[in-house]
Amino acid sequence: MTDLRAWLPRSVDAVDAWMARFGAYSAHPSVEVDDARLEEAFTLLADRLRDNYPFGHPRYVGQMLKPPHPAAVLGYVTAMLINPNNHALDGGPATAAMEKEVVAGLAGMFGMPQHLGHLTSSGTIANLEALWVARESHPGKAIAYSADAHYTHARMCAVLGVEGVAIPADAAGRMEVDALVDVLDSGRVGTVVATLGTTGLGALDPLPQVLEVARAHGARVHVDAAYGGFFALIADGSADGVDRGPFAATGGADSIVVDPHKHGLQPYGCGAVLFADPSVGRFYVHDSPYTYFSSDELHLGEISLECSRAGAAAAGLWLTLEVLPLTDAGLGQVLRANRRGALAWHALLEGSDVLAPYQQSELDIVTYFPRRQSMADIDASSHALFTAAASLPEEERIDLATYVVSADAMRRRGHEVVEDAERARILRSTVMKPESAEIVGGIHATLETLAS
Ligand SMILES: Cc1ncc(COP(=O)(O)O)c(C=O)c1O
Repeated sequence: MTDLRAWLPRSVDAVDAWMARFGAYSAHPSVEVDDARLEEAFTLLADRLRDNYPFGHPRYVGQMLKPPHPAAVLGYVTAMLINPNNHALDGGPATAAMEKEVVAGLAGMFGMPQHLGHLTSSGTIANLEALWVARESHPGKAIAYSADAHYTHARMCAVLGVEGVAIPADAAGRMEVDALVDVLDSGRVGTVVATLGTTGLGALDPLPQVLEVARAHGARVHVDAAYGGFFALIADGSADGVDRGPFAATGGADSIVVDPHKHGLQPYGCGAVLFADPSVGRFYVHDSPYTYFSSDELHLGEISLECSRAGAAAAGLWLTLEVLPLTDAGLGQVLRANRRGALAWHALLEGSDVLAPYQQSELDIVTYFPRRQSMADIDASSHALFTAAASLPEEERIDLATYVVSADAMRRRGHEVVEDAERARILRSTVMKPESAEIVGGIHATLETLAS
């Protein structure tokens, strides 16, 4: 186990040793604060931070949340002590170079023959940039996305003043290609967004077919793989891998978004956007009288809508990928373990008299609900289970998340329900930590007991 108590002083040593070359140094020597006051405030901070969910604990199986890997913390903190800004090379040459390296690694993971890309502060901003480039490339045209796509696409279309078109999702939560073709036939769509790993269900839109029909209609394809992108490392169709097809096609997309702050083990503030055609850099061209003076090399701010960005985010990802590379045996082992956990849980749900799986899990999200007859009853009992699990004594407590489904979506998945309410909450768990994957049997057994 990597012990940060041993490693973090090395961050301070490394930066101090380098700064000492410029003469005597300590950070902010003229803004001295009283140690006693700092102690008091720090104690308060530590106390206030207890008002949190235990994201790092194996029994936290709710949202896509977990602490960063120690390597990410070490890389981030060490660089943060210098605080480079990856906007321009004059803001952080070392971390800008690291950013270009990790971005090239991500493009390689998706099989992009060439690329232009950068890190962003989030998947939201990365998608905004991709949709903005979509608008600039196909002015006046609409952007189509699945009804199950992340809500950010509809919102960002509104921000960009572009028409957004929601395409129905099928009974597996994947974009319906026939419905997409109908909309493409109208000629009004310039870009199609395919989601590889929907946020709610982890469903994979059929990218090969989406690419085919979009190309036939002269439309671009953007892939939102903010959540599911790193599953490309284990997309081999094996027992603990994921479906090969959608990931094998990513190299043919026009742009891809992936969030290292999800499965890339990074702290928040680390998304990424990649474009297949480097010439889209033309849309970013702007004049800046105060930056880009240190070199003729590409400054990342020249191809980014965000200005200041933490160089530390690039350093965290760079160090992580040095020790857990973008390979099946590297970071892939984490995703395989998660996938095994999701599959094992799904199998338990299928055999349960108390809980039912909502649909097959494609990545590491598992969705399920107490076996009840009516929508209102499913909603109430799901919420009761969510609350009861979180209310167990701290050393047994289980944290889940919920997901809202319609009666129609239930029926399409073969769950016959009395429609006394239009929608119901069901339960949703992301098995995002190998340690959680190892205990899904125990988690499931406790939830069964609580639900019955
Ligand atoms: C598919 C998808 N797209 C976009 C986002 C938004 O990313 P972020 O939360 O990093 O802004 C998410 C977040 O869960 C996501 O799952």
